[in-house]
Amino acid sequence: MLRARIAGTGRATPDKVLTNDDLSKMVATSDEWINERTGIRERRILEEGRTTSDLASLAGRRACETAEIDPREVDCIIVATISPDMPMPAVAVTVQQKLGITGQCPAFDVSAACAGFIYGMSIADSFVKCGRYKRVLVIGVEILSRLVDWTDRNTCVLFGDGAGAALLVPHEGEDRGILSTHLFADGSGVPYLNIPGGGSAEPTTLKTVEAKRHLVKMQGKPVFTHAVKNISAAAKTALEANGKTPADVDWVVAHQANLRILEGVAERCGLPIEKFYLNIHKYGNTSSASIPIALDEAAREGKVKPGDLVLMAALGAGLSWGSALVRF
Ligand code: UT7
Repeated sequence: MLRARIAGTGRATPDKVLTNDDLSKMVATSDEWINERTGIRERRILEEGRTTSDLASLAGRRACETAEIDPREVDCIIVATISPDMPMPAVAVTVQQKLGITGQCPAFDVSAACAGFIYGMSIADSFVKCGRYKRVLVIGVEILSRLVDWTDRNTCVLFGDGAGAALLVPHEGEDRGILSTHLFADGSGVPYLNIPGGGSAEPTTLKTVEAKRHLVKMQGKPVFTHAVKNISAAAKTALEANGKTPADVDWVVAHQANLRILEGVAERCGLPIEKFYLNIHKYGNTSSASIPIALDEAAREGKVKPGDLVLMAALGAGLSWGSALVRF
């Protein structure tokens, strides 16, 4: 059986650390509140002058290095992001240039917010399985520090910057590879989490900028409730589709938005929280980058090992969500 296998992972996170204590000097918050409500202690912030494509290409290069594949052999690039270098063109084409790929390989962005990496991986999985492409680089990257309102304590304490990547290649056999992916969306959730300005609905004007319509707006509570419910359902769907039980799972590498969301998912799915790889305390919510950053860390720490059964799941703006079951 032909499957798409993750041949290598990589990540790139900025050096600059912003702690909860730093934030408590900027807005009315505290380390205690943020840590208790979310599990976040600090997040990374990209320095001025560097961009989404810088971080994305670095993560992509590292994934290629791990896979021992020259980046110039990549034949398709998919970048999951809601914070590209610019609204047009796709940041993936700039990543292609920064990786030195001259072979005109297709490069495009996927916009599914925090579920973006699962969406990107699902597309890449289909491309590899049908034989269309053989070296597909999937990158999740966000520079959310440039899109949050640093005076809004409801959102600015949650997000961080970073990039993670996975290189997918064909694999013959049952022992490794992506077993299945499952994608979902419910557009009735648009009001819960969005950036209202800067598109065709509210083109950028002085007024929209003054009203901060170009920055992230979120109603945390409904997103939280939907996240616990839908991530759990998607995780169960992935297990059922493959005849697996929670006991079969070695690691859960889920979107790191809030530790309490993951604890809720663990309880609903009958998966011990010890099986969840957790790094939210270090990076906060890096949206589409959170799963590939966590996967790369877990692999390099020797936690997620070749052959392990890894369950991935995420939910974000849209609402969009999904899951994947992978024999790493
Ligand atoms: O990646 C997908 C996208 N996002 C998410 O998954 C986020 C989902 N939502 C959440 O994680 C949680 O809803 C939050 C962490 C955003 C908020 O936690 P919560 O337990 O739902 O708190 P809340 O919004 O109900 O706020 C409780 C109180 C409020 O004060 P009052 O009205 O009770 O006086 C807030 O104003 O906490 C206040 N508050 C804060 N206090 C200190 C809100 N943000 C802060 C803050 N520091 N940063």
